[in-house]
Amino acid sequence: MTHTKQTVVGVPKETYPGETLVALTPAHVPLLTKIGLHVLVESGAGEAAGFEDEEYRIKGARVASDRSELFASAEILLQVRTLGANPDTGRHDLPLLRADHVLIGLADPLGRPEAATELAHLGVTVFAMELMPRIARAQSMDMLSSLATIVGYKAVLLAAASLSKLFPMLMTAAGTIPPARVLVIGAGVAGLQAIATARRLGAAVAAYDVRPAVKDQIQSLGAKVIDAPVEAGEVEELSGYAKTLGEHIYRKQRERLTPVVAASDVVIATAAVPGRPAPRLITADMVARMARGSVIMDVAAERGGNCELTRPNEVIVHHGVTVLGPTNLPNTVPMHASQMCGRNLANVLLYLCKDGFLHVDVADEITRETLVTRGGAVVHPRIGALPRATHYDVAEEGNA
Ligand code: NAI
Repeated sequence: MTHTKQTVVGVPKETYPGETLVALTPAHVPLLTKIGLHVLVESGAGEAAGFEDEEYRIKGARVASDRSELFASAEILLQVRTLGANPDTGRHDLPLLRADHVLIGLADPLGRPEAATELAHLGVTVFAMELMPRIARAQSMDMLSSLATIVGYKAVLLAAASLSKLFPMLMTAAGTIPPARVLVIGAGVAGLQAIATARRLGAAVAAYDVRPAVKDQIQSLGAKVIDAPVEAGEVEELSGYAKTLGEHIYRKQRERLTPVVAASDVVIATAAVPGRPAPRLITADMVARMARGSVIMDVAAERGGNCELTRPNEVIVHHGVTVLGPTNLPNTVPMHASQMCGRNLANVLLYLCKDGFLHVDVADEITRETLVTRGGAVVHPRIGALPRATHYDVAEEGNA
């Protein structure tokens, strides 16, 4: 076990284009000061999420007017997006980084392992929040789950706003309106929240996932389960995540989904496999069979999309069907997204720090699983073995 003095926690303003989140809100500051850490926030860091500098001061943080001062004073840096997850503008911070810096935040280590290598060469220690294991005791630190919860909720609201129909069943003097039929593909964190949100809006919801374990959860939210044509043993569950399946299975899936998609007013597509392109489950032909005015909300757009027509951050209309692929939905809910992610990051520090010191104990599963770089090297076995190129090549095998 190594033992390093890390007392100042810096919260820089996020620089990813359009980012509105902040890695720590004023309410989280006392959690950290109570365990002997000092919090230093870059002036304006919380502004886009609705938090003023003064609120941080009142809660016991210091505010740095200058970014280089913040990097110079801090040992631990909390960021929503570290370099790997902010590959262009994130580079502006490279001259400010030192060998004793510890970065904690999203780092996209599976998609952009080259960023981890670059930070390792600078001697920087990186904890990637995407690698947080899905185990009970790590739940309060799971930033991806926080973001996915927001994604599932907002995806449904935006789909509802684009639909040419109403969601709830209405019995009016002008006739009866049937409920909208919503299909949720992928019932992970985002998908389950999408089911719950669509149900709250009164839609008739069906959901589809390859992991048999989620059937009960789908049903408990009041949605119908669409059975997956996957044999037992074909889906290995990896800590609550699915793995990439073969093209022959994706073909069977598309066949199974074709009539269900055609009969749906809205499809919320969230199917994902960590660090891999999104499985291609909806073809252009399947979209063309939907009724005009229907909507596909593909939140997997950044990873190539579940629908072959999806283009990140574009609105595609195909045979009268609107295909949406927004890539940063949490940005549209910055206050609560920051509140949830900030709490996750504060919990990581509460977990790693004892008496104001950061303890990096690789015998601990959570530390070992999230630690990407340390002592000048990429230390995570899954990242070290990856090629330096980005991994979201949508033409990769396994996709249509
Ligand atoms: P998750 O891993 O919890 O859930 C994904 C689900 O898809 C799992 O239940 C898995 O079993 C299922 N799945 C995988 N392959 C499948 C297949 N072939 N057929 C059917 N189901 C399959 O992921 P989470 O956290 O819910 O995230 C969902 C998506 O949201 C991801 O694509 C993620 O990148 C995306 N996301 C989008 C954002 C946005 O603003 N658009 C922001 C953050 C995340």
